[in-house]
Amino acid sequence: MHLFQAASRAVTLALVSFPLQVHAQNLTVRFFQNSPDSCNYNESSRALTFTASSIPIDGVCLSLEKLFGGNTTRGFVNHTDLRIDPQSGDIGLHWQVENADMYDSQANYSSVLYRQYFANPPSDDLEPGNQAYRALTLYPHEDCMDVGPQGRGWYGFSCWSEDEGSCGTAPWNILSIGVQEKRSWDQCWVFALYGAAGRGYSSSQAMIGAFLSASLAIWLA
Ligand SMILES: *[C@@H]1O[C@H](CO)[C@@H](O)[C@H](O)[C@H]1NC(C)=O
Ligand SMILES: *[C@@H]1O[C@H](CO)[C@@H](O)[C@H](O)[C@H]1NC(C)=O
Ligand SMILES: *[C@@H]1O[C@H](CO)[C@@H](O)[C@H](O)[C@H]1NC(C)=O
Ligand SMILES: *[C@@H]1O[C@H](CO)[C@@H](O)[C@H](O)[C@H]1NC(C)=O
Ligand SMILES: *[C@@H]1O[C@H](CO)[C@@H](O)[C@H](O)[C@H]1NC(C)=O
Repeated sequence: MHLFQAASRAVTLALVSFPLQVHAQNLTVRFFQNSPDSCNYNESSRALTFTASSIPIDGVCLSLEKLFGGNTTRGFVNHTDLRIDPQSGDIGLHWQVENADMYDSQANYSSVLYRQYFANPPSDDLEPGNQAYRALTLYPHEDCMDVGPQGRGWYGFSCWSEDEGSCGTAPWNILSIGVQEKRSWDQCWVFALYGAAGRGYSSSQAMIGAFLSASLAIWLA
């Protein structure tokens, strides 16, 4: 089985129903062909936008072309069968896209705005600069692969951001993104190449392994 097929199937399977919006602290990612004029969430609502409103319990890899070039604007990657402790409700990644009409499959989407903001945080560890609920990774190839014709590398974001979000520009066209639950990295990432700000998770092999296991589980489900 190829990882990409599994991820596509997960996206396709995902169209059923959306009963829960479990976590109000959304992850939002906006994609730009050139660096945005100002790096401010409030001023970029007409950009290609991906939003995750739940927290996956394993890694999920999504292709920009599938997300924005498809005929659906929302999906659910179901992790219910991966949970260890019984919990009520659906577990997995609920996602949504906006402004997909602007998507150009030939364009170079090398810039992003990332926002994972906790308004009025009840404790210090939910302030900007701390490890957030989810980690986002950006890749120059499909299937969350970090090596291929466009070269090598991946970037990660995993900190709670400020309200306006934070931005970065990769030296390549971003073709796929990964979303996963935070792990116990010592430091969170702000557009970190190879997750360089964190320790203990700089191996892309480990990252790919996480996606593969998730996709396999989805495939078998
Ligand atoms: C999306 O489009 C494809 C091809 O046009 C079609 O086979 C598929 O059923 C469509 N999916 C939905 C959810 O409309
Ligand atoms: C997720 O999977 C569980 C277990 O297979 C199933 O009961 C549930 O209906 C699925 N949820 C959705 C929204 O597909
Ligand atoms: C979170 O995202 C969902 C769409 O995925 C949206 O309906 C909801 O309004 C967003 N919540 C907040 C607090 O922005
Ligand atoms: C964004 O807009 C909201 C509502 O108008 C405002 O409360 C907030 O301060 C703005 N944030 C930034 C960073 O401009
Ligand atoms: C895409 O944009 C990035 C950032 O500007 C640039 O470094 C890269 O060479 C571009 N790729 C292509 C294929 O044009």
